[in-house]
Amino acid sequence: MIIDDSLDKIAADVAICRLCRLFRTRTNAVPGEGSSLVKAVLIGEAPGRSEDEQGRPFVGKAGKILDYVLRETGINRSQIFITNLVKCRPPGNRIPTVDEVTTCRMYLDREFAFLRPKIIGLLGRTAYSTFIGGDGFSSDRGRILKKNGQTYLITFHPAAAIYNKSLIESLKSDFTKMSSEFGL
Ligand code: URA
Repeated sequence: MIIDDSLDKIAADVAICRLCRLFRTRTNAVPGEGSSLVKAVLIGEAPGRSEDEQGRPFVGKAGKILDYVLRETGINRSQIFITNLVKCRPPGNRIPTVDEVTTCRMYLDREFAFLRPKIIGLLGRTAYSTFIGGDGFSSDRGRILKKNGQTYLITFHPAAAIYNKSLIESLKSDFTKMSSEFGL
């Protein structure tokens, strides 16, 4: 447990991290981003090409969809904190390995310890299996559930809506549910 931590310190540590192999191929590490006074955290999978170039989460195609869904549901980026399971881009945008996710978990835990979110939105199957486990993503999607004292919203990864636009409506309804139940 690190006392006197801050989002800036976490971001500074992420920027120089060499704990797993992903540091060798990254351009920039991508720390979580957002205000320190949020009720909700959204967790994606891993930075993609645009995020790697800019050092910021969800600024590429998936980010545009996320921004659209947030706007449509009346949520401002300043009301949420956006982060990823791993902070460096896996080569070719492959799914991060369990090893990489486990190594990077320390930074997520520091972000959570600092923010104490009321709700964590798990974007997609990789975030779901990391926090909830099992293969119940499809049946749990759209639900708000509790595990080990933490509340989670299970929803699609915005990237899934790039090729399947019908998922945007599901994302909107899931985010509306989160927003109304947690007073975002
Ligand atoms: N996909 C993610 O999971 N995270 C990002 O930051 C961008 C795309």
